[in-house]
Amino acid sequence: MERARGPVIALDGLGSSGKSSVGAALAAALGCRFLDTGLLYRALTWLALERGLDPADGPAIAPLAAEIDLGADDAGRLTRVIVGGREVGALIRTPRVDRSVSAVSRQPEVRAALLGRQRALAASGGIVVAGRDIGSVVLPDADVKVWLDASPEERAARRAAERGTDPASSEGRAILDDLRRRDRLDGSREHSPARPATDAVHVRTDGHTFEETVAAVAAVVRAAWTGRGG
Ligand code: DC
Repeated sequence: MERARGPVIALDGLGSSGKSSVGAALAAALGCRFLDTGLLYRALTWLALERGLDPADGPAIAPLAAEIDLGADDAGRLTRVIVGGREVGALIRTPRVDRSVSAVSRQPEVRAALLGRQRALAASGGIVVAGRDIGSVVLPDADVKVWLDASPEERAARRAAERGTDPASSEGRAILDDLRRRDRLDGSREHSPARPATDAVHVRTDGHTFEETVAAVAAVVRAAWTGRGG
């Protein structure tokens, strides 16, 4: 049976589990588009802070979602974050945004405002969607669901390496503390907590190279998609 569209792949995991980089490489390998939904939450948090809003004021923040656009880069990845015609990519990955993004993300009005956006972007298929609640809430009918498992220590070490920091230094320990704090907040919130869908395939990344992880996820996708007649 011929399929009208490419697969919808939900790739979830906690902070720094590698879902953004693994997802981008996976999308390139499969010839799919790529959406990192954390960008939407980060952009909304940045905008709320710019406007001087309280991160817990969901009703005031949610309407700002209409001001955020995502643009595709040359590879078809939706990585360009545009607010009011201005690219804000670097501004949304700062410690200031890190500190407030969990508070903004737990507001039900915020999640409702971004739900339709995410579903609309995925509707035509042929896309890898990275996040924390994609398989469980945003796209429960996704063709393939993967949850990336990685220990807090491994994730903190990766983030420290990105920043050129020794994981054993006080800055390195602060990275681990911040990750644990966000895990706790994102995983325990009332609406759409970060957790694997019951039918997600878990891929453990500790002790594996980036290339090995991409290959492992691609194998899961190919097996699931072939199994579904794709
Ligand atoms: O993946 P990230 O670190 O860029 O995500 C930033 C924050 O956005 C994260 O702390 C929680 C929130 N988020 C979410 O609640 N749901 C998603 N699908 C993606 C991100």
